[in-house]
Parts: sequence; structure tokens; C-alpha cells
Amino acid sequence: MLPGRSLRTAYAVAAACALLPTTTAAATACSDPTGRPWCDRAQDADTRARLLTAALTTGEKLKLLGGYRSGDHAGAIAPVPRLGVPVAYVDGSTIGVGQPVSADGRIGGKNRATQMPSPTALAATFDPALARRAGATIGDEARKKGNTGLLGPAADIMRVPYGGRTFESFGEDPHLSGRMAAAWIQGAESAGVFTSLKHFAVNNQEGRDPTAKLGTEAFPLGFGTQSSRYLYNAVVSERAMREIYLAPFETAIREGRPGSVMCAYNRVNGPYACASRHLLADVLRRDWGYHGLVMSDWIVGAHPWDAVAHFRNGLDLEMPSPVTYAPALLKPLLQLGVLRTAQLDEHVRRILRATIAAGILDDPPSPPDESAIDVDGHNAVARAVAEGGVVLLRNTGVLPLQAGATPRIAVLGPAARRSASGGGSGSVRPFRTDPVADALTAHPGAGQVTVDTTRDRARAASVARAADIAVVVVRDYETEGADRLCLTLRCPPTYGDQDALIEAVAAAQPNTVVVVQSGGPVLIPWRDRVAAVVQAWYPGQAGGTAIARVLFGDVDPSGRLPVTFPVREADLPTAESARRYPGTAAQNVHYEEGVLVGYRWYDARGIAPAYPFGFGLSYTSFAYSDLRVAEDGVTFAARNTGERRGAAVPQLYVGLPPIGGATVQPPWQLRGAEKVWLEPGERREVTLPLTARDLSSWDGGWKRATGCVRVAVGASSRDLPLRGTLGECG
Ligand code: BGC
Repeated sequence: MLPGRSLRTAYAVAAACALLPTTTAAATACSDPTGRPWCDRAQDADTRARLLTAALTTGEKLKLLGGYRSGDHAGAIAPVPRLGVPVAYVDGSTIGVGQPVSADGRIGGKNRATQMPSPTALAATFDPALARRAGATIGDEARKKGNTGLLGPAADIMRVPYGGRTFESFGEDPHLSGRMAAAWIQGAESAGVFTSLKHFAVNNQEGRDPTAKLGTEAFPLGFGTQSSRYLYNAVVSERAMREIYLAPFETAIREGRPGSVMCAYNRVNGPYACASRHLLADVLRRDWGYHGLVMSDWIVGAHPWDAVAHFRNGLDLEMPSPVTYAPALLKPLLQLGVLRTAQLDEHVRRILRATIAAGILDDPPSPPDESAIDVDGHNAVARAVAEGGVVLLRNTGVLPLQAGATPRIAVLGPAARRSASGGGSGSVRPFRTDPVADALTAHPGAGQVTVDTTRDRARAASVARAADIAVVVVRDYETEGADRLCLTLRCPPTYGDQDALIEAVAAAQPNTVVVVQSGGPVLIPWRDRVAAVVQAWYPGQAGGTAIARVLFGDVDPSGRLPVTFPVREADLPTAESARRYPGTAAQNVHYEEGVLVGYRWYDARGIAPAYPFGFGLSYTSFAYSDLRVAEDGVTFAARNTGERRGAAVPQLYVGLPPIGGATVQPPWQLRGAEKVWLEPGERREVTLPLTARDLSSWDGGWKRATGCVRVAVGASSRDLPLRGTLGECG
């Protein structure tokens, strides 16, 4: 076990190593293909990797298994100088390519990048086509910054909204998370990089830092020492894993076909994820037929005392430097026959296959070149995602703001002039910043805009009173490395008591609009005392403009919640005991809520959320009708019953009967959704497919329901007007 202090030291040392000079890419391995059969482009990447592996010495093979000097990048795979194979760099996240990490713990350094909205915002778009575009954008940027691999997406389910990486997740539902991750991977890999689907698996918390000094913006990478991600053991049933935590990975692997998977820091039912025979050999490779590369999470994803288990169970690559896979450790184990040479070859082949498929032999990335990036084009994608992800939670009619007819807007809140984003490896130093206050001021529809970022409630109230409309911009702060200590907007205290500020403004100005920029769910106890609530997530580098466009009605608010917003912390599925979260003193985190994660819990317990999963208002209204249910899918009509163009997001849920040992069943489970843009009065027929797997539960294997399956379609998990059944319903 590594205590917190040594972890900090390890990070500092590794970060310092990352600053060693960058090795420049050599002439391509295949510029002279004579005697190099692996250069034959007519062969698939697997065959070429096999041929190249056969040409390597044992020393060269061993060198490939541990990371390599990464210069400005987060990590690198060793070159083979003798054969002209260049070093392959990896970096980035779903949010952007924020290399480098510097020794003082600050992330961003000199390189700027397009900062996408948080993946929670992307999930809120409910739009896989947009996820594909976002992936293609970040993939392109990763390549132009000299990378062969891109370290995302994260398909971890949001189990606890406290989690420091909530913003990096696609939310609480496996269907939505899997669809978004798969589409993002397809987009990113189309740009000529391999992706790394992370963090496999059951990686759902960072750990608490009870002193709360770390995990702030001043120190973005915190260290949650209580049930830290480096130490905790997820005690979780096989069923909850298969149905909830592994399901998004499975979809992402089957549909996205990522070049690599990153195994997680934590333990799962005993072994560390990167040494787990069950996760790596049985589930990933045997059950899902995954043939790609498995790399460890950074620095302490692999453990020297577990080297044999890592090697045998399927960890191909240790990142970012060879400690557990140090040649000096592995070589004698191979010589003694403890480790098999055939398995060494397999690890090497998988590493090479990923890099060859991403072009390392034929078209290796050039050194980073910021000027090659289409900054405007990428900004447009960031704006499209931000716009598509904005969720209108409440609107008494104050929105959309009437251009020109709203002469005096007061923009308030200490976050109004700052862009909101999360910390850790998902942080990016953006090409542009676009705070809400500036974007509202610049909007062509805006009249007189007063911006005041005071924390003084009395002053804010008087500024609000003197205006026609108050827009209060609030935010939270999440970071990799440490969980949030509470879910209110008072936590962390960086921005003062934002809840009290909202209450004061709302008391002074009936037309108060609150714009929440948070990585995930926060408590919004004042919601019924304000005129409108707009959930904008961490909206990325074009976020202000996107929010202004939604507020002025240039675009319909088309996002829907990928997470439940609870009324109170006591309602969370993990609130019942510290065993569930943050875990016991022995670092065991008991996933006793089983499959009742997110809305599945609130539905099963009859707990009313503040806003349910799938919820979001539009400036128009929709009606659903004419449901037809069949074994392979449902068809229904969606109609725009209002007077503006808008996006309906009809969702398909199933309620499964008990299946074998799977006696506890969530009342509803999402199985399909589609974003449909409709003109006023327009009616469209929508078909959402169902598969046998959609009607199955895990009971020692996937078992299809034999009894009565309830089927429902509607606007959110709590608004399901169309009902039908499948099977024997008596
Ligand atoms: C994170 C990974 C990330 C890696 C490299 C680790 O701390 O857990 O998600 O890809 O750093 O930046």
C-alpha cells in the first residue's frame, strides 16, 4: 500500500521525468521497405505487427512493454531505432489535448488546445453524431500535436456525484454512456490516432481529502486520501458489474473498436484492475473478443509485486515508465520460465498493432504544430456541443430573452467572468476563453448589460433590482484526484456562498435566471424561487456564446439530463452508509445498491428527484403518440405542438420482470433515445430498435426475459406517457 505522501512524491518525480527532452520522430520505418515485410500496406495491422514482432530482439521487445521518455506528452511508447520505428506519443482526454503536465502540478503549460465541453455536456446532447464530430476534432488535434494515441474516452459510470471526475463521465446510464463513448471513439480514430477507453473498470471515485486543502484550482490534481482511487477495492456483484459498470465499456468496444483500453488504478473484488484475470482475461478478451492493447493508468496502475499477474492476465503496456515492467525485472522471470516468451510476443504484437493501425509505420505524426490546427473549425464544434448540451431545467416564461425588448440585464456572480472547467488530466489551456458575461454583453440581441461579479449579496441584490432581468452565473469545481466534499454550490468555498447570493438576487428581482456551470449534479434548493434554471455543465471554450444563444432563443435548449439531480444528499443511492461511500477504513467500497444506480435507485425507492434523468425543457412543446411495440423495436410519432423549431428527445425504457436470480429489477432502464429536430406542427415517425440483450439480465450469463416486459416511451425517465408490453402479460 502506498501512503499519500509517497504518492505525491511519485507524481512529482514522474512529472519531472515527463519534462525530459522530446525525442523527434525518425524517418519512417517504411521509407525503405526492402526486407521489411511489415511495411506491406496490403496486410492488416495484425499481420504487420506479427511480422515486426518476429524481427525484434528480446531486449527490444522488453523495452516496448514499459513507457518511454515522453517529453511534452503524457506518455510514449518506445521507438525501435534499428528498424526506424519512431516513438509513439499519447496524450489528451475527451476534453482536449492539454499536454504537457509540468513538475509543479500545473497542467496546461505552454501548449494551448481546443477545450471541449465536459463529457457530461456531450452526454446531455443525447446525440451520438455530435459525439463522433467531437471525437474527430480532438483526434485531429491530438495528431497535429504529434500524438499517435489519445487517452480517452472515459466510460466510467457516475456512481456518486461527489466523484472528482464526474465531469469526465457520460453520466449515470450504461446505454447512454456506451453509445456516446462508441461514437466518440469512431470519430477520434477516423482522424488517425488510436483511442484509449478508460478506466477499466469500476473506477467511480477519487477519494476524499478531509483536509480539503487539495483539489482546488490552486492545486488542480488533488489527493483523496480516504478510499483513494489508488487503493480502494470495489466490492461489487457480478451482475451490477455486467449490467451497469461494464456495459458501457462493452458497447464502446463492440461498436467503437478502440485501439486501446486503459485499466484503472483501483481494485475490483480483490485484485488491482490492471492485474485482474477476471476483468482482463475473462471479460475483456474472452467474453468480448477484444484483441487490442491494454495499457495501465499512469504511474501506479501497475505494481511491481504483482508483475507476474499483470503480465499473465493481460496488461500489455505499463505507463508512463517501466517500473513493474522494467526489463531488469522481467528478463530473469522469462529466463526462469515463470513468464512465457509467447506471451511476451503477444504483448508486443498488441502494442505494435495499435500503433501500426494509427499509422506509426506509414504516416507517423509530425512534431507538434499548433499552426496546423483549424482553430476556428474546432471552436465551432466546441460551440455546437455546448449548445446541444445545455439543459433548461426551469422556465416560468422569462426565457427566451426577447432581443431588443430586454433593455437592462444584470449579469451577476463571481463566476460570470470566468470560464468553468475541471482539473486534472482533463484540464486544457484553451485557445479561447468565452465567459458568459462577455458573450451576453456581445450578443446582438442584448440591450444594456451590467456585469458585477461581487460576492456581496446586498450589492448584487441592488444591481439586480435596478435591472429588468438578472442572470446569475454560478459554478462548482471538480478535479481528478479528489472528490467533492458536498454537493452544494458552497463546496468548494472558492466562489463564496453562491446559494445565498442566488437567494438574495431572487428576492430582489423576480426575473432571475440562474446559469449553473457544474461538472455534474449539484443541489439547487432555490430552484422554485427563480424564474429559470439553465444547466450548462463545464461548457468549454465557446461556452459563453453557446449559453447566450440559448438564452436569447437563437437555438432551442435541446440538452437532456444524463444524471439525476437529487433534492438532498441523503437521497443518494450511497447515502445509507459509509460502507457504500466513501468506504471502510480497510478501503473497501461496498456497492450494496447493486444495479440500483442513478435513476434506477430513485425509481425503485420512490424518491422524487429535483430533476429526473432524461429531463429537459424546450422553448416549444412535443407530443408522443401511436406506439407500436415489437420484439425488435418500437415505433411511435413525435410531434412539435408549439410555435418554434425545437428538439424532442424521446426515450425508450423497459421494465424487466425478475429473471432467474436477478430478482431486484430497476422499474425502468433506458434502451434507446433519439434527438429529433421538428418544425412547428411537424410530425415524425421514430423507430428505436430493441435487441435480445436489451431484454436480458445477468444471472451467471445473459438471460432473456421470459415473462412480461413493460415498454414505455416519453420525454424523461419520469414522464413516460406511451406504454406497451412484450411477452406474456396475462
Ligand atoms: C489519469 C488518466 C490519464 C493519465 C495521463 C492519469 O492520472 O487517471 O485518465 O489519461 O493520467 O494523463
